[in-house]
Amino acid sequence: RIAGPSGLTIFGVTGDLSRKKLMPAIYDLSNRGLLPPGFALTGVARREWENQDFGEVVYEAVKENARTPFHQAVWDRLAEGIRFVPGSFDDPATFDRLSQTIKELDEERGTGGNHAFYLSVPPSMFPTVLTHLSRSGLAEQSADTWRRVVIEKPFGHDLESAQELNRIVNEVFPEDSVFRIDHYLGKETVQNILALRFANQLFEPLWNAHYVDHVQITMAEDIGLGGRAGYYDGIGAARDVIQNHLLQLLALTAMEEPLSFSPDDLRAEKSKVLSATKPVGPFAETTARGQYTGGWQGGQQVPGLHEEGGFASDSRTETFAAITLEIENRRWAGVPFYLRTGKRLGRRVTEIAVVFKRAPHLPFDDTMTEELGQNALVIRIQPDEGVTMRFGAKVPGTSMEVRDVTMDFGYGHAFTESSPEAYERLLLDVLLGEPSLFPVNEEVELSWQILDPVLDYWAEHGYPEKYKAGTWGPPSAEAMLARSGRVWRRP
Ligand code: BG6
Repeated sequence: RIAGPSGLTIFGVTGDLSRKKLMPAIYDLSNRGLLPPGFALTGVARREWENQDFGEVVYEAVKENARTPFHQAVWDRLAEGIRFVPGSFDDPATFDRLSQTIKELDEERGTGGNHAFYLSVPPSMFPTVLTHLSRSGLAEQSADTWRRVVIEKPFGHDLESAQELNRIVNEVFPEDSVFRIDHYLGKETVQNILALRFANQLFEPLWNAHYVDHVQITMAEDIGLGGRAGYYDGIGAARDVIQNHLLQLLALTAMEEPLSFSPDDLRAEKSKVLSATKPVGPFAETTARGQYTGGWQGGQQVPGLHEEGGFASDSRTETFAAITLEIENRRWAGVPFYLRTGKRLGRRVTEIAVVFKRAPHLPFDDTMTEELGQNALVIRIQPDEGVTMRFGAKVPGTSMEVRDVTMDFGYGHAFTESSPEAYERLLLDVLLGEPSLFPVNEEVELSWQILDPVLDYWAEHGYPEKYKAGTWGPPSAEAMLARSGRVWRRP
């Protein structure tokens, strides 16, 4: 699938995301031959740059972060379509200049007037940019010209602000032209959840409250927040990743089989399961939040949040969050879904662990099963992509001792094909007008509806607990599972 004639404008090209992900992804797509020959990339920012200066910025970003090898010919062709529009996002003249540039690109590069606008700007600027896109006529589409908008998170701060933002977005762009980014959906291993569940007979019969004891969804990061305080302070771990990435993982893990893989059918099932998902209280016992202090990580001493600078000294922003959810339907009644995420944890790992109930009866001497845990299916999202099945096996020897063993599927061993970077896949889908991997307004609002009660509770109840960098979070996280005799996995 190769994108047709089109161009992309990025608002906020001086930011991290642009340099680390967006510009390299455009080059990689171009390198793989998936962009049209006349593709145009336009940057908008408040800098006194000429096209050539911006070209150099893109070049550096590509050299530093592209995943595919550098080919001069590919770069030269891409570079011919690079333009820069200087100006601030609240100045109508910026958008008039952009409009002019896009018209010229149509003539010079044959973009056909098809254009996507990527809002990689602080959320407070979303309404401003959208209003100006509308006023300047840039959002207008015709029967044979499309205009699309791509919006980064955070999409709102709570349900109310998300609804308001959706209202503003939909005033300017119809819903089928809105692409909300949740880059987790661009990951191969996340898309594989549906293949694992619905292409096989092995797992689905067990995928319910009769057999599943609980589900743990973990997104642990080893990095701290140095340099990101401006974005993160006041947002915190729950809004940063639970509201989007982790609830999308939950939806894919728990939803019913879709009628088809069409965007509408997929979204219908995701929305249905999110509608049935509720936070479990009392929140003092079923949730945990923390803030990291200095510690040791991978043999290195690392500073605590407050030594990194940028955070208010009394900041309540959590860098670790864990919550308990339940899904009120027949398949999942009584099965807790535990979600946790944090910065500066033991190691970087994202996984979904479906933990099964114990066998109803064990015809073994008690001493023979001391090292037998619960069966589990672990979907390893990253970094060691694959799936692990954990079950008991007889320990070689004369006694009938049973111990946990694992059976592994790893991408590196099973496939020779390499996975595209998430942003590569998502940017291509935007240009193709393929919306399956983008959450719609309803999903975003349902996710806030799930999270809001916990956020409200936290806002009124004290501060996050401290945890040392390099550990697995604050003691309250352990306590929240221990109450029901469960423990978090140590990946
Ligand atoms: C982003 C969050 O959405 O995801 C970051 O804003 C986080 O805080 C990042 O570090 C992690 O992404 P990945 O793909 O490395 O798991």
